[in-house]
Amino acid sequence: MTTTQRVAVITGGASGIGRQTCLKFARKGDRVVVADFNEAAGMETVEHIKKEGGEAIFVKVDVSSQESVQALVDEAVAKFGRIDVMFNNAGIGGAGPVLTQNMDLYHKTIAVNQHGVAYGIMAAGNKMKELGIKGVIINTASVFGFLASPGTFAYHATKGAVIMMSKSAALELAPHGIRVIAIAPGAVDTPIIQGFKDNGMLESMKAKVMGGELTKPETVANSVYLLSLEEADAINGSVVMVDQGYAS
Ligand code: NAI
Repeated sequence: MTTTQRVAVITGGASGIGRQTCLKFARKGDRVVVADFNEAAGMETVEHIKKEGGEAIFVKVDVSSQESVQALVDEAVAKFGRIDVMFNNAGIGGAGPVLTQNMDLYHKTIAVNQHGVAYGIMAAGNKMKELGIKGVIINTASVFGFLASPGTFAYHATKGAVIMMSKSAALELAPHGIRVIAIAPGAVDTPIIQGFKDNGMLESMKAKVMGGELTKPETVANSVYLLSLEEADAINGSVVMVDQGYAS
């Protein structure tokens, strides 16, 4: 068991799964770097943590920029001296059907959901290796990384990529004692999923979750926390279903 107070960097920390994960890690005594494009909402997460007696800072990041993600990791280490957990979680949804694909949206989805995770793995992996920290990198994929549905072509592409990037990076980082894991949530009650209301998909997604209700982001956060612990060190290069049976 590590006795050092850990540092967790969480992208998409201003909302949904990321926000709840920030709160969870902070409540467990970790120092948290809340990273997001949305500064106002990210600051709210930080204030919430501070009110509860936790320690957190906000760093504005655009995960689709490699420079920005590198600056995030550098700033986290400059402030707290280490990085133990990198949760590459920021993402955008939808993007539309293949035959009428809006190409700006296509490229944006790839840039945020896929390149954003790649940059996070590279920046955090190199920093953990440099500092000799046996950390963990957790990437948010989705059941949509291996289950297809119409209307979300680019999103599927990115989430499939996150799964394979996680496995590939896990193999390369294992010799340094760094784990890499992908999580695959199903249908989680956050703003991103409201986009599926318009094409009627939300109700059918709900029906696939055991219990018939959307998964709470708090419960996804709990799973991310468990995966981050040293006791979970047999879980590496894995895609962990956090889907309440969505893909069963
Ligand atoms: P959300 O919309 O509540 O949170 C996403 C966060 O990412 C927002 O705070 C947003 O500002 C941030 N973000 C977006 N683009 C960014 C950028 N370029 N740079 C930095 N931050 C950026 O949505 P949710 O559900 O919490 O999404 C988190 C992750 O979970 C995403 O990767 C999503 O694809 C994934 N996911 C969500 C599911 C769901 O049902 N809600 C199911 C499976 C996966």
